[in-house]
Amino acid sequence: MKILDGKTLAKKIEDKVLSQTELLKEETGRVPGLAVILVGNDPASQAYVSMKKKACDRVGFYSVTHEMPKNISQDAIENTITMMNNNPNIDGILIQLPLPAQIDTTKLLELVSPNKDVDGFHPYNVGRLTTGLDGFVPCTPLGVMEIFKEYDIDLKGKNCVVVGASNIVGKPMAALLLNANATVEICHIFTDDLKKHTLNADIILVGVGVINLIKEDMVKDGAIIIDIGINRAENGKLVGDVDYENVAQKCSYITPVPGGVGPMTISMLLSNTLKAAQLHSKANS
Ligand code: GUN
Repeated sequence: MKILDGKTLAKKIEDKVLSQTELLKEETGRVPGLAVILVGNDPASQAYVSMKKKACDRVGFYSVTHEMPKNISQDAIENTITMMNNNPNIDGILIQLPLPAQIDTTKLLELVSPNKDVDGFHPYNVGRLTTGLDGFVPCTPLGVMEIFKEYDIDLKGKNCVVVGASNIVGKPMAALLLNANATVEICHIFTDDLKKHTLNADIILVGVGVINLIKEDMVKDGAIIIDIGINRAENGKLVGDVDYENVAQKCSYITPVPGGVGPMTISMLLSNTLKAAQLHSKANS
């Protein structure tokens, strides 16, 4: 069994983003800029936003966080997004999800300018991804694809089972795998007999937020396991959705939690923001 070390790969990608950012600054004077919208005081969202901001600082990006109270109006968030859409110093806009119940999330995601949509959540970019065109791709599944590339894992014809059908992870993950010529199944909360599906899989990718969902009797020998879950166990430790100790004995490759997919998400946000800045600098030259 080999560990897929996302932490080391994320650092390598971050170093590349840093040097390309220096180059962009030298050649165009442009500093990549990221605006983050954070609503309410959910500790997990606050922690993610703080990690994203620190990562921006490390690679020399400009970043600004718009913190808003939980009872903020739809109009107020929309005004902020419009301002950021029109601000030439901002290349990427990220709305940390989930948002409070009174907010129409879809309407906000559609308001973000597609060329600043570094999370890849705008329907324009979702459409480009499913058609196999270049665009902005959601950071977590994009990070998983980078792991496959780094470890020379060929996806062509592989049976991939994606567990979880969210717009943020499961659906874009499936689209990327399909674009790489894998055979893809998506399982979700209404799937009858999950084990029947996972037992067939060459690659299992799971991100649903259920501790120990994937157990050793659900995995065939030599399978590749990508654990996209992040959960806080009762003892306070961070764990994924896979029963790691037992499943690791059976598989050929596995991502640990922490240190697997998580760090890749942040480095892909940096990489998407740099890409946006490079596109904007070309458009303005
Ligand atoms: N909430 C959970 N994951 C994500 C993500 O990748 N991006 C944003 N914006 N919010 C999230």
